Amino acid sequence: MNKKTVRDIDVAGKRVFLRVDYNVQFDEGEILDDYRLRESIPTLEYLIEQGAKTIICAHRGRPGGKVVEELRNEPVAKHLATLIGREVKSVTDCVGPEVDAAVAAMQPGDLLLLENVRFYAGEEANDPQFAKQLAALADVFVSDAFGTAHRAHASVVGVGYYLPAVAGFLMERELEYVGRVATDGEKPLAVILGGAKVSDKLAILKNLVDRAALICVGGGIANTFLRAQGIDVGASLYEADRIQDAYEVMRLASSRNDLRLLMPTDVVIADAAGTRINTVSVNRIPPGFRILDLGRRTLEDMREALAPMKTVVWNGPVGFFEREPFDRGSIEVARMLADLVGAMTVVGGGETAAAVAKAGVAQHISHVSTGGGASLEMLQGIMLPGVEILRDK
Ligand code: 3PG
Repeated sequence: MNKKTVRDIDVAGKRVFLRVDYNVQFDEGEILDDYRLRESIPTLEYLIEQGAKTIICAHRGRPGGKVVEELRNEPVAKHLATLIGREVKSVTDCVGPEVDAAVAAMQPGDLLLLENVRFYAGEEANDPQFAKQLAALADVFVSDAFGTAHRAHASVVGVGYYLPAVAGFLMERELEYVGRVATDGEKPLAVILGGAKVSDKLAILKNLVDRAALICVGGGIANTFLRAQGIDVGASLYEADRIQDAYEVMRLASSRNDLRLLMPTDVVIADAAGTRINTVSVNRIPPGFRILDLGRRTLEDMREALAPMKTVVWNGPVGFFEREPFDRGSIEVARMLADLVGAMTVVGGGETAAAVAKAGVAQHISHVSTGGGASLEMLQGIMLPGVEILRDK
């Protein structure tokens, strides 16, 4: 994507408004997953090197325009400081006298994290007044908030009406990988879709189906496809109102010689209590049992089908990833992607990224996106407002 980056603009000694996605969770003061913070470090380091004064803006959760104590940004600042090995100051507001004073006191290379920007109703409303107040803090707008780029909010889009807006290195990387898969990318292309609902992923299929050579379905999505094939899925969850859509995809795949739709042929099932676990052919699912993961044979077929692919995109776990041993299929898919030589592999979505981390293969995947909803929308071919606002090259 042809967007200007922080390299294309002079930031030396400037005040930079850096929007990031630090929407992370804490459990008893411990950060659960700091991937989003770590991925923002190259931009921070560049800005420090350039002697910029970096005013970092981030949101956490959905406080709905009110202060929610548990969603303050201070613990994020503390964790970021340990990652980057230097002080990250934080303030308890986003605009107003406390912030003005903190910004005025900044020295070149300093980092200042503003309070959770969603404590202000003007953020989600993309209120121009609020955006203007935020913009007044800085000279340049750098966005690394790919994970939030599908939200037309004041700090994601609005600030760009008042300041020159460019991409940070994380945003650049996300656009390079997720954007490339969504629009071109080397063929043959494989799409692996999992997760609970067909409805969430149907638009991705529609966008990529013309270019795809292989579509693999797993998770709850596969159940709907199996139902569309007339298979009795026992007590498994599926979307009755999406069977027609699944059927359409199947019809399209069978009408094209150059597209293969790989559906599960064997699955891991369990009874309601989750104590009786078995692997069976999809035609032999006993009443009361639920499909919770892909079976070995299906996974082997998938590995073989993926081997010649040049681009592979994976979104959504192929089994009930939250519960062992039903995470095995997703971990295996992560390994398959890692083992592909010479292919561009792109993984999106929180649980899918977690599967890659659990398999310990993140370094062998071309790109693990920091965006859940944002990467989904981009793969659907939607232009994200937080990307659109950035200056073209
Ligand atoms: C995310 O975690 O997906 C982003 O930070 C966006 O959060 P939201 O869905 O609350 O807008």
